[in-house]
Amino acid sequence: MDILGVVVTAVWAMLPAYVPNNVAVLAGGGKPIDGGRSLPDGRILGDGKTQRGTVLGTAAGTAVALGLTAIEPGVSALLGYSLPTFSVRVGLGLAFGAMFGDIAASFLKRRTGRERGAAFPVLDQLDFALGALACVWILAPAWTEATFTRPVLLAVVVLTPLLHVLTNVIAYALGLKDEPW
Ligand code: CTP
Ligand code: MG
Repeated sequence: MDILGVVVTAVWAMLPAYVPNNVAVLAGGGKPIDGGRSLPDGRILGDGKTQRGTVLGTAAGTAVALGLTAIEPGVSALLGYSLPTFSVRVGLGLAFGAMFGDIAASFLKRRTGRERGAAFPVLDQLDFALGALACVWILAPAWTEATFTRPVLLAVVVLTPLLHVLTNVIAYALGLKDEPW
């Protein structure tokens, strides 16, 4: 596969993981996952991780995976690549894993004294990708290893922070997000 093929495959395979956090920003709110509870060193997760955001983000990412699978033959033929398709299990793994990675990062932020909304460079940009890859690998190791070859994985690690910064700056500029990270 040429370099464009690697990049297209990386973005395509990660789309079900890129969508959930953005949907959570738009659709989140309401009851926090941690129920407002704290540990001795502060809130468990904080008010920024809500049940509604997590459920709707996961559902949206899974729906994206199924949508991509439906249009895959046409897109692959058009571009001349063989793009991956997603089972429900794979879609759920990527989508929920992305939300979980973001939630785990908030847990770490609270343990390191960072208030809700505080930046945690590198972790903020990669938490959801790491969560998605770990989760889908546990649920569907064969699909994960066949899809995320070394070059595709490298493209994910390079492109994810760029896409994350770009979408968050746009969401901030549109007034959808309180901070540009
Ligand atoms: N959101 C949500 N549920 C999630 C993740 C995000 O409802 N599981 C919504 C919240 O409204 C949140 C917004 O999306 O405020 C932005 O998400 P994020 O930047 O991840 O949260 P922060 O509020 O910055 O909190 P934290 O410091 O814990 O990351
Ligand atoms: Mg934030």
